[in-house]
Amino acid sequence: MSTIKEYELLSRKINEEVENELIRGYISCIDVQLGGGCNARCVYCDTPLYRETCEVNLRKLEAMLKTGKIKYIFVCGLGEPTAPTNIGYFKDILRMADFYNAKVSAFSNCIHMDNELFDLINKGVYNVIFKLDSFDSTYRQKTYRISASLDTQMQKNIATLSAIAKNNKSSFTQVAASIVASNDNIDYIYNIVKFCIDNNIFPKIGLLENAGNSTETFNSKALSQLQIQQIQTFLKKEYGIDDLQALKMCPAVLGSIFISNKDRVSLVNGLATSCKWFGLEDNNKEKQHFITEYDANEISNDFYYKVVDAILKYRLLQLPYVETVLGQTNKTIIGGCGGDPRQILTNMIRISRCQVKESKIFRSAIDGHLLEMDEIQNINSENEIYIQR
Ligand SMILES: C[S@@+](CC[C@H](N)C(=O)[O-])C[C@H]1O[C@@H](n2cnc3c(N)ncnc32)[C@H](O)[C@@H]1O
Ligand code: SF4
Repeated sequence: MSTIKEYELLSRKINEEVENELIRGYISCIDVQLGGGCNARCVYCDTPLYRETCEVNLRKLEAMLKTGKIKYIFVCGLGEPTAPTNIGYFKDILRMADFYNAKVSAFSNCIHMDNELFDLINKGVYNVIFKLDSFDSTYRQKTYRISASLDTQMQKNIATLSAIAKNNKSSFTQVAASIVASNDNIDYIYNIVKFCIDNNIFPKIGLLENAGNSTETFNSKALSQLQIQQIQTFLKKEYGIDDLQALKMCPAVLGSIFISNKDRVSLVNGLATSCKWFGLEDNNKEKQHFITEYDANEISNDFYYKVVDAILKYRLLQLPYVETVLGQTNKTIIGGCGGDPRQILTNMIRISRCQVKESKIFRSAIDGHLLEMDEIQNINSENEIYIQR
């Protein structure tokens, strides 16, 4: 059986590291959204918000990196990081990450690449999840609605990425392929996975989601349960991969400070997950709980800690609600690239309990005593608590 190298920034090792930091009261990831601009127009694009601008304040991002606590930056949603309207921000983020010893993981169609980006991938600063739905250029031009010359460029860039990944001798890979599995490319999937594994590229297979441009064709393009099962059996038999996405969870779902393209930090209202895309279907009121500490005009020395404290407090207050949701087995909450929803909520409860029981970071602001779990069940947003690390 061929072995598969885990994509480092979604690996079990990084998940554990991020969780352990959370238990100690620190957040070590930033999940940042750039603008919606893109140089392609994929027929299945789940976020076709091409006019959305990026208003992220990079001074604030740098202030958080300066603490040395931020180790990983995720660029997961909205648009294409290498599009003309995003590339300036994206490169500044990569350069800052390089300077402050952090690593970046980003999804990209890799139509436009240059030497600086390839060098940063080589160095392990930029970890890339690039688009790989087919080896057929006609298919790609039609699916991504790009010209033949852009497709040639993309193909060349895929070859360079494969060479970089193949050369990497460490136990993890910094290159993954995002494979959107549908009826259009079902016949190619087995070859794509083989190509990935032969070249040390992590094959991140995702099922077509019913969102954005794909809603009209979803019913005819989505794979049947039988087709999904067949792929799963193949992956298990050939490569020992247990589930389609072959990853347990994205560390940013719980372990990140989420910054929107409008430069607001928020958590999902109710479930209190960090990733905006995880759990939205659970909300019937406002979709986001804003962390107003991030909106201050001046960046103070304890800026990072104020933002982290507000995030952890909101999550602690939501704990009874999350436990209720987890108990309602038939409640649908989207999983997406974040992993198994039930696993994530179970983790969230476990982490919060550890914060209270082991690290003892939550104290009553009234008399400074350590909070016990049963007290937490009775806390509401008016109760004053503080975090002592
Ligand atoms: C929103 S995109 C943004 C990054 C970049 N522009 C790209 O396409 O790689 C993030 C990932 O979601 C995938 N994606 C987009 N639409 C999808 C859909 N309807 N179903 C499943 N995956 C989708 C993309 O292929 C990509 O890997
Ligand atoms: S899926 Fe990515 S590459 Fe395709 S149109 Fe959407 S943002 Fe652009």
